Amino acid sequence: MDLLDNLNWRYAAKTMNGKKVSEDKIERILEAARLAPTSSGLQPFEIFVIKNQDLKEKIRPVAWNQSVVTECSHLLVFAAWDHYTSDRINYMFDLTNTIRGFKNEGWENYRQMLLDSYPQQDAEDNFNHAAKQAYIALGMAMVAATYEKVDCTPMEGFSADKVDEILGLREKGLRSTVLLPIGYRKEDEDWLVNLVKVRKPMDHLVTVIA
Ligand SMILES: Cc1cc2nc3c(=O)[nH]c(=O)nc-3n(C[C@H](O)[C@H](O)[C@H](O)COP(=O)(O)O)c2cc1C
Repeated sequence: MDLLDNLNWRYAAKTMNGKKVSEDKIERILEAARLAPTSSGLQPFEIFVIKNQDLKEKIRPVAWNQSVVTECSHLLVFAAWDHYTSDRINYMFDLTNTIRGFKNEGWENYRQMLLDSYPQQDAEDNFNHAAKQAYIALGMAMVAATYEKVDCTPMEGFSADKVDEILGLREKGLRSTVLLPIGYRKEDEDWLVNLVKVRKPMDHLVTVIA
């Protein structure tokens, strides 16, 4: 199937059948998220992969009791940095230097520019910026899932504070941003599965300026 066929096949599954997704599929989905581009390459988020059923059961009530939270195979929690700190910025710039095996003056000047600005900015603004980057990875993961013929449901319907508490995210300098249960659709019971996909027409979405 080509990309657009895959994107038409995917939908936000409302119910899943509990069947396990193989670890190699999950790894490829996570790799797609890892490859997501991010602002300044900082990758300011982490992804928690919850396989533990008890933990999923704990999260479901704070996620509007949405059944996919417990019916999924793997529950991904995208958690963004709560702030841009010097340590976090330096880690990514040092990693780049290590992997590429050289230092570059322009790159070091850019590092300094970020160090002189990001950590001094408002933490909430920085978190919101980091969360946007996490959403790019979410998108990549969802597209990758279609290639694995695996369903997923992007979810903002949850209490971020409660999920942070359950997973101890604040202590790690992280805040939950969006959930992605991954599994297989329960085809015969999902009210959404056979409904026509609704998207606004292209001319309401795109303005071409020649
Ligand atoms: C960021 C985001 C948050 C969403 N939150 C939820 C959610 O909490 N529960 C849910 O059932 N669907 C959720 N959705 C699914 C959307 O409602 C769905 O993607 C949209 O209606 C389009 O339908 P489709 O994905 O089936 O094509 C969310 C989607 C996105 C992108």
